[in-house]
Amino acid sequence: MAERYQTLILFGATGDLAYRMLFPSLYHLMLDGLLPDDMLIVGSGRTVMDDAAFRAELSGKLVEHLKKDRFDQAAVDRFLQLVRYCPVSIGGEGQDFHALADMVADRRARGISVYMSTPPSLFAPVVRGLEGAGLSGSDVRIAMEKPIGKDLASSCEVNDAVNAVFDEARVFRVDHYLGKETVQNLLVLRFGNTLFEPLWNAGAIDHVQITVAETVGLEGRVSYYDGVGALKDMVQNHLLQLLALVAMEAPASTGSTAVRDEKVKVLRSLRKMSADDVTKLSVRGQYRAGAVAGQAVPGYTDELGAESGTETFVALKAYIDNWRWAGVPFYLRTGKRMAERKSEIYIQFKPVPHSIFDRATGALQSNAMVINVQPKENIQLLFMAKQPSLDRDGMKLREVPLDVSLSSESSGTRRRIAYERLLLDFIEGDNTLFVRRDEVEAAWAWIDAIHHAWAEAGQDVKRYMAGSWGPDSSVAMIERGGASWHE
Ligand code: BG6
Repeated sequence: MAERYQTLILFGATGDLAYRMLFPSLYHLMLDGLLPDDMLIVGSGRTVMDDAAFRAELSGKLVEHLKKDRFDQAAVDRFLQLVRYCPVSIGGEGQDFHALADMVADRRARGISVYMSTPPSLFAPVVRGLEGAGLSGSDVRIAMEKPIGKDLASSCEVNDAVNAVFDEARVFRVDHYLGKETVQNLLVLRFGNTLFEPLWNAGAIDHVQITVAETVGLEGRVSYYDGVGALKDMVQNHLLQLLALVAMEAPASTGSTAVRDEKVKVLRSLRKMSADDVTKLSVRGQYRAGAVAGQAVPGYTDELGAESGTETFVALKAYIDNWRWAGVPFYLRTGKRMAERKSEIYIQFKPVPHSIFDRATGALQSNAMVINVQPKENIQLLFMAKQPSLDRDGMKLREVPLDVSLSSESSGTRRRIAYERLLLDFIEGDNTLFVRRDEVEAAWAWIDAIHHAWAEAGQDVKRYMAGSWGPDSSVAMIERGGASWHE
């Protein structure tokens, strides 16, 4: 393990993500005794206030966001004592960065971790500010939230600006899906068992589906989301990380270079879509008014207060052009305001080569495996069995699930926020679960091609009712391939 750094500077400390996820995660880590003894957390934001005012505000937010069973006023007070605040005007003169550097000057020997939970347009200015104040030496690491840019070119610009000051080993790009237990479990499932790997290829697998369905809508993120859309907000990062973990070759070890080397090979093997095939291989959707879980909800453009061509749903039929996956479609699908919240990976195996059950009743189904990432955390293996009976007129077949729970609760541990894992790894300097520059750029290259193809082919958004599984054309797309969405 690399050295644990004892100071964490958090840019964007008064933002929504910090209050909802980052501070609660740090609080949990403290409660579990996982933070270094002498930890200091310096929150930084535009608002000018002192330590006391920030602690008071943070205290209120912790009350709001911590689960009841983890809330303890004495522990919150102890946590607040670890926290200080330094106002920084990011594009400003630079004296604020010097004030920040002064605040942590006597702690440099024990390492400084800087976490940027700000819009990506501020990553380069923050890095320049840090450098100007001398906060960029080998004792400083930096983390940044997604999105890294809005296309390949802007992502390269951000990465160039950051890498000009911090070498890649000190850069931690966050994709919070990698902090989820069930996502990390994919590596163990695939490479910790002999059962699956021999079948994990085009010889035995018919197709793969990756669904990340949300029930939430815009959640007040109008200025960020419109013009970005589901492809860039979700597929470029979360879905492609899931795809890479499902499709990668076995890494030589669980070390960060070995794992990330294999993931990037998958991303580079994704077949680029062109204007000629994009309409067959993709669907863009946008929700209109409907009902989610019995509650009426407005349409996207009503929430936005304007017309928009931004997609809130996307379905793709992707191919990985390599030896293992030749000809196997990977169907990806994500959307907001869908029928239910679920993230799952569905592996559809091929049918048996020849059926001997011609007199049997009950259809012979091909085997399938469902890996539920959230909110359920389990794996189901669907296989065929005989229905118990003494019938003389042939056997009755039925599909039965083998259900293995992966939930933390069932193993007697608390279900952690994904950011707990990531913040701890960042403090400890382990970048395995962070995205390397070449991965981000390979993902953007594939996404950019889809975007250009959409523009060239004039592919519009199809409306779908909030609370549904997306536009009908997404069903038609998968059915053309002889499959259907697992719902
Ligand atoms: C974020 C996206 O990265 O992930 C959001 O910007 C989305 O639009 C969120 O809602 C989903 O995360 P989770 O962990 O709730 O599935």
